[in-house]
Amino acid sequence: MILYFSGTGNSEYVAKRIAQKTEDEVLNLFDRLRNDDVSEIQSDKPWVIVAPTYAWQMPHIVRDWLKRAQLTGDPRVYFVLTCGTSIGGAGAFAKAVASEMGKTYKGTAPVVMPENYIAIFNTPGQEKAMEIVDRAEEKIDRIAETINEGAYLEELGGGRLPSMVMNWGFHKFIIADRKFRTNENCTSCGQCVKVCPTENIYLDSPEGTKRHPVWSGRCIHCMACINRCPFRAIEYGSSTESKERYRCPKTV
Ligand SMILES: Cc1cc2nc3c(=O)[nH]c(=O)nc-3n(C[C@H](O)[C@H](O)[C@H](O)COP(=O)(O)O)c2cc1C
Repeated sequence: MILYFSGTGNSEYVAKRIAQKTEDEVLNLFDRLRNDDVSEIQSDKPWVIVAPTYAWQMPHIVRDWLKRAQLTGDPRVYFVLTCGTSIGGAGAFAKAVASEMGKTYKGTAPVVMPENYIAIFNTPGQEKAMEIVDRAEEKIDRIAETINEGAYLEELGGGRLPSMVMNWGFHKFIIADRKFRTNENCTSCGQCVKVCPTENIYLDSPEGTKRHPVWSGRCIHCMACINRCPFRAIEYGSSTESKERYRCPKTV
């Protein structure tokens, strides 16, 4: 069973491609994460967790859910982390998560996909993004083959300590939603409310005709709201004003 979390579609694309190549089922964790639903899921095939990399680890929302979720049936778990450049030492942390899940760890594979962290970095345009996704496909297919063979995924030697420090700094100093704001393009459509995995966004009480999104402090910086707003109405400070919005070109 392929379980995935995805802010902007990269991990969704990878998960669905692995599911197709392994002839396995795929499940989007969005509702389960949002509702903190850890009820039983059963699978007779290995568990494959696909998620983006956040500061050289899997997102904590996924990690914390996996530790509590009842995943019964097959005892093996694979991790596939999409990233813009590197997953650092995320494998060491995934191994620890597998152990807390009571599962047999079968390795962690990185898949380089387009960068989506628009709050900090530049995101590629559609053409460049398509090139990166095309390049990733061979790697995704190799991962699926490894899973079909029941073999271990490659293990990269990224250090645990640098990942720990980087991830700590990210949670302490970077994740915050105070800089999100809307511009005059906002139509109060509520798409940002729908795509937020932590129910962090609500539309404020109507005053006149317009209601505006309000971010309420539980943001995980997945960048779904800003990248998936259909009217380009969300900014993060002023640095995003000139940046391309990103959505995986093959999941749109
Ligand atoms: C909060 C945040 C942190 C990120 N940290 C990393 C990182 O440590 N290394 C990296 O290569 N890419 C990093 N990225 C880029 C994403 O991991 C990458 O674009 C991923 O494929 C996005 O997946 P998604 O579209 O499924 O959400 C980060 C992105 C975000 C939003």
